[in-house]
Amino acid sequence: MCGIVGYTGDKRAAPFLLGGLEKLEYRGYDSAGVALSEEGNFQLLRRAGRVTQLKTPLEKLNSAAVTGIAHTRWATHGPPTEENAHPHLSEKKQWVVVHNGIIENAEELRRELADVKFKSETDTEVIPHLLEKQGEINPVEALVNTQKRLEGAWALGILCAAMPDTLFCACKGSPLLVGVGAGGTYLASDYAAFDEDVTTTYRLCDGEIGVLTKNTVCFYNCDGDIIDKSGEKFSWKEQRIDKGDYEHFMRSEIDQQPLALRQTLAQFFTDGAFSLSCELPEKPRKIWLIACGSAYHACVTGKYVIEELAKIPCETAVASEFRYCYPLIGDSDLAVFVSQSGETADTLAAVREANANGAVSVGIVNVPGSAIARECRIILPTKAGTEVAVATTKAYCAQLAVLYSLALHYVTDSKQKNAFQQALRRLPEDVQQVLDTTEKPAMDMAREIYEAEHAYFIGRNLDFSTVLEGSLKLKEISYLHSEAYPAGELKHGTISLVEEGTPVIALACCERLLPKTLANIREVMARGAAVFAVTTLDDIEDARGVITIRKTHPLVMPSLAVVPLQLLSYHVARLRGCDIDKPRNLAKSVTVE
Ligand code: M6R
Repeated sequence: MCGIVGYTGDKRAAPFLLGGLEKLEYRGYDSAGVALSEEGNFQLLRRAGRVTQLKTPLEKLNSAAVTGIAHTRWATHGPPTEENAHPHLSEKKQWVVVHNGIIENAEELRRELADVKFKSETDTEVIPHLLEKQGEINPVEALVNTQKRLEGAWALGILCAAMPDTLFCACKGSPLLVGVGAGGTYLASDYAAFDEDVTTTYRLCDGEIGVLTKNTVCFYNCDGDIIDKSGEKFSWKEQRIDKGDYEHFMRSEIDQQPLALRQTLAQFFTDGAFSLSCELPEKPRKIWLIACGSAYHACVTGKYVIEELAKIPCETAVASEFRYCYPLIGDSDLAVFVSQSGETADTLAAVREANANGAVSVGIVNVPGSAIARECRIILPTKAGTEVAVATTKAYCAQLAVLYSLALHYVTDSKQKNAFQQALRRLPEDVQQVLDTTEKPAMDMAREIYEAEHAYFIGRNLDFSTVLEGSLKLKEISYLHSEAYPAGELKHGTISLVEEGTPVIALACCERLLPKTLANIREVMARGAAVFAVTTLDDIEDARGVITIRKTHPLVMPSLAVVPLQLLSYHVARLRGCDIDKPRNLAKSVTVE
């Protein structure tokens, strides 16, 4: 949450800063701001709302500054106003700071800085004031001392008036990258923000400090001692994100699912032979599956599949709950953490909890080098490529593929193993076929439900785990209120909300439970519900709409069934005129608790 960029070099800073913010806007879009340094004078430009609000004023400013920092915010402390927008300046204008993360002891520090006139409600503003209170000491020393006072998480981009064309940075718990190119040095929360000039990158570790001038980078540890860091080669072309001819990233990412599956599964199949190529415990006592949001829904599917196929007991947990429930987890357990960004604060905290309890931690992560990827003992990567839309689609589908592969690793019955393995290898084509055949019926369905206020999703077993995801997709991008229930559960209370015409989206793909699901469908129809079904059946009597999808191995059906639900959400959101790639109040990486 929140994106930061910085630059110092030979070029004008403003164009890179603006372009970088645009690419990082997925991290938060409540407000945006820039600070440019001209001979020790800082020029600040901040706006509530999207990065685009900065464009015209920044162009008008026409600053020749070659050094600057910038920020796009997801509000935590204080509403998304201009006053709360970053960068934040110290009283004597000696320091200016952008921050991603949360300073947990900000209130205590504000009390300590009682003589300072704070200009914002943010936790961040304590940082420039603390730096200034150090007096005229070496900026690195000031930063060492200040970091020691902070609790929580931070990635900081800092300018200091005493060294006008130097960029300072530091982090703990939030991602921060340094880039080096022929035209200068760069700072960013994510590789996506770097431009084609960057050839080498460095990832800051917790407590580390970076000092960047136009042609040097120097790193220090948390005590201020110089350290050696090895850089990584960077190819801008590989990081470039582009939605091509698509109107939205989400729609293009839905179509990239077969490719995401191919790339993800390819790592586990060599010449037709399946292997996870990692040291997993032979027979864990229990497998924990822990994540947030859609990644959690992937875990729910994973539990059904692993238990049925590998006969190992699984327990799913929402990461924010796992941490505080005194989990009975130990060294004979496998703890699997699923995360697209690899940055989700609650999931990361859960990784630490599991590691501290001796469990073998496994990360199913899409962003290599991310915090969760670094802290898990074993990594099973998803290879979905960069996902830009806040609503996940291709990363979710790749997460399912890795969870299926984990189940396959533990299955002992060779007949079952062969059948499942074949289904996995066919999965990219099967998903492609569903994509090719369900767009039009999903659009038709969307036209029927987009004006509704509420919708309910029902399904049993793997259909239930899939409707959890379908319902989240719908509400997060279209703001149409929806809830997902196990099909048999609705009559235990929620059915009282069903009235004439209430849309109920029923998933009827789980073959062995079809008669039960069909009975539940009749129950809601009898109360006037307008039933829209996604099913392997050719038709469902009296349903207002039916999308028929092909059958595959029952345990990988969720990967096929979720596709029409993604398309349905997309088209409902489009008909409702929503900002599909950047839904209100959300951000792609949730780096706060
Ligand atoms: O990056 P992560 O996978 O850890 O993110 C977890 C959730 O925040 C994420 O899946 C969220 O629910 C999606 N926006 C849903 O589309």
